[in-house]
Amino acid sequence: MGLEAARFVLAAREQLGELLGVDSSSLIFTKNTTEALNLALFGSLGPGSRVVTGAMEHNSVLRPLEALRGRGVDVEVLPAPGGELDLELLEEALKKRTTMVVLSHVSNVTGAVLPLAQAGKLAQDAGALFLADVAQSLGYLPLNLSELPVDLAAFPGHKGLLGPMGTGGLYVRPGVELEPLLYGGTGSFSDSLSQPQVMPDRFEAGTPNLPGIMGLGAAAKFIQERGQEIHRSALLLGQKFREQVADLPQITVYSPEQVAVPVVSVNFGQEASEEVATILSEFFRVAVRGGLHCAPLAHRTLGTGSQGAVRFSFGYGNTQKDLEGAIGAVQAICQKL
Ligand SMILES: Cc1ncc(COP(=O)(O)O)c(C=O)c1O
Repeated sequence: MGLEAARFVLAAREQLGELLGVDSSSLIFTKNTTEALNLALFGSLGPGSRVVTGAMEHNSVLRPLEALRGRGVDVEVLPAPGGELDLELLEEALKKRTTMVVLSHVSNVTGAVLPLAQAGKLAQDAGALFLADVAQSLGYLPLNLSELPVDLAAFPGHKGLLGPMGTGGLYVRPGVELEPLLYGGTGSFSDSLSQPQVMPDRFEAGTPNLPGIMGLGAAAKFIQERGQEIHRSALLLGQKFREQVADLPQITVYSPEQVAVPVVSVNFGQEASEEVATILSEFFRVAVRGGLHCAPLAHRTLGTGSQGAVRFSFGYGNTQKDLEGAIGAVQAICQKL
């Protein structure tokens, strides 16, 4: 039974490797994107290193970097004019010797897509490692990691892959050196008191989340078989929602005109976003996320540092009826303003 469990973990890793276009041994299972990002950041940065990131990043990047700043890491956060990555600013920042560039592929606040390949190339050409946070893009956008200039990529199982909550992983390009976050038993090389050197054992100490990993493997298979098509309907709903609400005079939209992932963030006049979110939930049964979406600098960039925004996300399983319900709720609230 123990062997069978190990085979399930291996099968899930292989399935995920196939989906991401990489060898399964370059994938480490974690409990979410945050843990994967922490492993990548704490595992490769230390006193004297320099890291460049952007203002649209999630706190799962910004907070570890703030902690690392306290340990002697030079952290530069690039401004993001209009919520976009400015490649010229990145190029300028890379004139200083830089250990790593870390950026998200898609903003969780606006849904805007960042030029991942160009940013990765600039970083690698300057001799820096490129860490991509693909939390919002994996499953939605085609992502073959072996064809992209990416050294490390942190991903969740529970978003676009439709896997179980509490699953995720880190891709580590072969040859990239990393220190583990956790030390302990791996069920391998047990006569040594040192952490094994081999992937993925080196980074997966302790009992794995077998039910979660099996679910993640099944999710990867499901997506692999059907392709990004499975999210087409959610994308269309997002696009229609954006088009319909953008014309309402009380609504400000922060998401790009062309919806690439089904996330549309808006505000209702000057109303506090958390209050609108509560009204949508309690009176209309529409579940959205108000506030700062764990991305305070992104909101400051968009001019919504205190108001936050109301983020509508359409997912697999949402229907035309849900869309109509959401639009109807937005219109009803606007009429009261
Ligand atoms: C861009 C981005 N990065 C990181 C995270 C953290 O993901 P997780 O909850 O899997 O740790 C999120 C979560 O929403 C996110 O949107």
